[in-house]
Amino acid sequence: MPTEFSFLPDLASTFAWQVDALYILMVVLTIIFTGGVFAAIAYLAIKYKRRSDDERPAPILGSIPLELAWSIIPLFMAMGVYFLGADLYFRLYRAPAETLDIYVIGKQWMWKVQHAEGKREINELHVPIGQPIKLIMSSEDVIHSFYVPAFRTKKDVVPGRYTTIWFEASQLGEFHLFCAEYCGTEHSTMIGKVIVMEPVDYQNWLSGGSGQSETMVQAGERQFGQLGCETCHKETSSGRGPSLVGVFGKPVVLENGSEVMVDEDYVRESILNPQAKIVEGYKPIMPTFQGQISEETLLQILTYIQSLGAAE
Ligand code: CUA
Repeated sequence: MPTEFSFLPDLASTFAWQVDALYILMVVLTIIFTGGVFAAIAYLAIKYKRRSDDERPAPILGSIPLELAWSIIPLFMAMGVYFLGADLYFRLYRAPAETLDIYVIGKQWMWKVQHAEGKREINELHVPIGQPIKLIMSSEDVIHSFYVPAFRTKKDVVPGRYTTIWFEASQLGEFHLFCAEYCGTEHSTMIGKVIVMEPVDYQNWLSGGSGQSETMVQAGERQFGQLGCETCHKETSSGRGPSLVGVFGKPVVLENGSEVMVDEDYVRESILNPQAKIVEGYKPIMPTFQGQISEETLLQILTYIQSLGAAE
């Protein structure tokens, strides 16, 4: 937490300083140009003040070097800012291949967090330091926005789909977590904190407490059985639905011959709106689970199907 007054929040993620550097560069450029324009107005107003009523200024014929200079120099500055910004954008929104995944659900008006090991928390997010963390987020109701100023990162949390955000915390401590999208009367109370811990402490925290007998994958497997998914989706392709073993993260051919990547959103869609994209060779007989399972259950089943994808 900040111990003394500062204009800027803590720099608590690996890319936080880069966001600040770009921001400061743009502020400095703006100040230089604004100051320059004002100074030029003042100087020219005095220098070329009309001194008598019948004074006629000399005609101005233009200046090619001047016009080229004021076109080319700003072009390079603007493109420089653009490329720095684009580069930073890709860093911020493209997660590394190896991440620790944590699941977040926004809901009026709280943040619900679920760790793969099964631990859950509300309005708090515990993460280890020095490790890329990816959050897979969805909303139970309206649009929220996950915002941690100290990490300099923010992303909308949207109902009906998954959005992801990633960061690597570089400083131990507690940092503010906000909802940055007006989401109803108690939007301002939809706040929490991110607690950055040493990896060992994080592991201890994960295994501490009570009432978490199963991991997300285990919970998903249990739901998969209870909801009757396994009667059609068998381990082999003998079922009435396609086998889900080894499919996650790979493309699959659909009825109409097109291909779709089996990712979070496709699994989600196939559970809630099964008729949307039928896999080639199967009939559209699966019932929808829209309104019957919670976002939390959906995420658990998703992690289970992901685990089947890995366990080829
Ligand atoms: Cu949720 Cu504002």
